[in-house]
Amino acid sequence: VIPLSLQRRVEGLLQEHLDRMLLSSGKVSDCSDDANGNGGFEDVNPEDNPDSLLDGSVMEKVLQRRSLRMRNMQRAWQESPEGKKMLDFRKSLPAFREKERLLQAIARNQVVVVSGETGCGKTTQLPQYILESEIESGRGAFCSIICTQPRRISAMSVSERVSTERGEPLGESVGYKVRLEGMKGKNTHLLFCTSGILLRRLLSDRNLNGITHVFVDEIHERGMNEDFLLIVLKDLLPRRRDLRLILMSATLNAELFSNFFGGAPTIHIPGFTYPVRAHFLEDVLEMTGYKLTSFNQIDDYGQEKMWKTQKQLVPRKRKNKITALVEDALTKSSFENYSSGVRDSLSCWTPDCMGFNLIEAVLCHICRKERPGAVLVFMTGWEDISCLRDQIRAHPLLGDPNRVLLLTCHGSMATSEQKLIFEKPPPNVRKIVLATNMAEASITINDVVFVVDCGKAKETTYDALNNTPCLLPSWISQASARQRRGRAGRVQPGECYHLYPSCVYEAFSEYQLPELLRTPLNSLCLQIKSLQVGSIGEFLSAALQPPEPLAVQNAVDFLKMIGALDEKENLTNLGEYLSMLPVDPKLGKMLIMGTIFRCFDPILTIVAGLSVKDPFLLPQDKKDLAGTAKSRFSAKDYSDHMALVRAYEGWKDAEREGSAYEYCWRNFLSAQTLQAIHSLRKQFSFILKDAGLLDADANTNNRLSHNQSLVRAIICSGLFPGIASVVPRETSMSFKTMDDGQVLLYANSVNARYQTIPYPWLVFGEKVKVNTVFIRDSTGISDSILILFGGTLSRGAMAEHLKMLEGYIDFFMDPSLAECYWKLKEEFDKLLQKK
Ligand code: CDP
Ligand code: MG
Repeated sequence: VIPLSLQRRVEGLLQEHLDRMLLSSGKVSDCSDDANGNGGFEDVNPEDNPDSLLDGSVMEKVLQRRSLRMRNMQRAWQESPEGKKMLDFRKSLPAFREKERLLQAIARNQVVVVSGETGCGKTTQLPQYILESEIESGRGAFCSIICTQPRRISAMSVSERVSTERGEPLGESVGYKVRLEGMKGKNTHLLFCTSGILLRRLLSDRNLNGITHVFVDEIHERGMNEDFLLIVLKDLLPRRRDLRLILMSATLNAELFSNFFGGAPTIHIPGFTYPVRAHFLEDVLEMTGYKLTSFNQIDDYGQEKMWKTQKQLVPRKRKNKITALVEDALTKSSFENYSSGVRDSLSCWTPDCMGFNLIEAVLCHICRKERPGAVLVFMTGWEDISCLRDQIRAHPLLGDPNRVLLLTCHGSMATSEQKLIFEKPPPNVRKIVLATNMAEASITINDVVFVVDCGKAKETTYDALNNTPCLLPSWISQASARQRRGRAGRVQPGECYHLYPSCVYEAFSEYQLPELLRTPLNSLCLQIKSLQVGSIGEFLSAALQPPEPLAVQNAVDFLKMIGALDEKENLTNLGEYLSMLPVDPKLGKMLIMGTIFRCFDPILTIVAGLSVKDPFLLPQDKKDLAGTAKSRFSAKDYSDHMALVRAYEGWKDAEREGSAYEYCWRNFLSAQTLQAIHSLRKQFSFILKDAGLLDADANTNNRLSHNQSLVRAIICSGLFPGIASVVPRETSMSFKTMDDGQVLLYANSVNARYQTIPYPWLVFGEKVKVNTVFIRDSTGISDSILILFGGTLSRGAMAEHLKMLEGYIDFFMDPSLAECYWKLKEEFDKLLQKK
């Protein structure tokens, strides 16, 4: 009984504490993630903008003068030789022929839907046309145009491109803003940002005051943020009659969006692309002379499983006769067998390197026999890309830098690397780009003539019934396959090698399922709540394609459980704070607990790490070495989270000594990810400080950081109900989650290296269904931690365990934890009295 009441006390104290903080700050402050806030775009508070201190008529004059200056500069550029050259290029884009029609439609209608082939000039030209025509009409300083992108890298590369086209440095009239980075100034009137950034802005500025045009780009991808934006914007339009909304889509399902906005006019930009010849697996094998010596030879990239199925169907003696096999066995029905069975049995973490050999064979074929032109290879993810890259580098022909320029293109690449992709290779050198499906629509590499398509993309799906996200490479849609193929026909007729048989293509679904229907909705529901738009369910039912009620219910239950919503689904103080933090709500809670319990630094690193990605690399061929390197950071903590903290701290030290590069190399760490963790840490600290949750003195915030039990406890408070009990077996252990499911530890977890773990529980961040359910990072915790910090609603779920534990649980089992709990309680009480 005692532990339960104590547990409620901890939760109660948290809410009370936040209550005070909110009252004393007198505002739910604007903590949009504008850590390096500058410029006129997010001037939510008028006081922040010196211009607005001027009274109306003076202000009008200032803006008019600025507009004139903008017009003069624009004209000067357009008349300069470089400007003329640039204009000629822009005029050659298909979008240009529709320019007047587009401008008219936008002037006359509040919502316009534009579709057109990738590369026709939607993203770079349309917002620019508006900007130019406003500037030309002498109203330049009065307009602010926002154009959203689903990915940060496209927001950055597109803004750079547009400012080049305007002959200006980035951050002048054109800027960008993505999480952690931005480049915009006082004169920025066209801002490219991620859709997430616009959503954050809507939280604090529901009417988008001052914004004149919003472009939502790549809506055909049906990303969750885009779908969410469309609901919010649809609701906003009647209140902001002057606001213009333009939706841009690559494919032709424009009707869906037009209907959503009550029959908004649609404009199609007829594209110009050269024909691309499609070669499916049957032709590719023939063409490359690639011999399959066994059916298991091709994995993800050649659909090993399907061959396996065939093995049973085809008589043994014909096993090696691939042509015959393809002809008579690859029927649609066998594919269906295959695709239903595949989700359970496919191991996406360990792509069979043999599958890469087929890609290598295709690349060799192109290099030896085909005309010049760049090659774009679509892979499922970064792991595969880096693995194939290493394999290719060791190849006598493909690895020769005098003949092949090998590049990669994926979501987390550095800006410098990004630019290389667009550059022309030296004469007689063939550019090969290994890319994720990012290169499908949002990034255009002009000189591509050959496309190699593995037919898959890593896609998160969400199993609402088991409330488990799954991350699997799954078959792309027919629309995606066509889109990928189209990338080869930009400059001349192209060739596309699909590494799957044509019957498999026939069985692909037509379009991909929208993200809203395949991801957990926790963050989204919290954001909906803080928008104060009423019931979550009702709000989401207005979506283009509403999610299942069960998925919404799961999210609401989750938010209630962590204390972000109360019983009546109202936002609690905790919820209020959580909605300001640009992280998953449970990680946000962990951060806040870390500030309150004065062990901020390690928790900050853990949260930053969990919301970026794992900095520990796991190269396919050096898994063992990498695992050993990681376990060196663990020192019998039985915690991946603590290993992360140590690795990060070691990196900071190494950086000070100038040996960061070597440190990362030696320890299989990604410097890039560590850098991202570092910037996220800064950003979170800034927001928490601004919200008044963090003391100005770092020592105060970290007074208890050395207390390991406490850090474990805070990890638990954030990650609950991600709990697995450790069931010792004779020579090993098994792990069971609260819902009684059996789980396995991810191979790279430090806990996977032990035969026994001296903790009764493991707390983990996420479980992922691959073939079985895996948990990734985990930390061992004691009974007392679980009881004190295991969330409010743990009572029901834990009742069984508690009955079992009741006999011997002693809160004081862990004296250091009890001590700091009581100390803090005293401190809280004092704090509460003082205020
Ligand atoms: O948005 P959409 O796919 O319709 O095309 P876009 O991104 O506006 O690109 C239009 C054209 O601009 C492309 O075909 C490229 O020729 C060029 N471009 C470029 O050279 N460099 C970039 N970073 C982006 C676009
Ligand atoms: Mg585009």
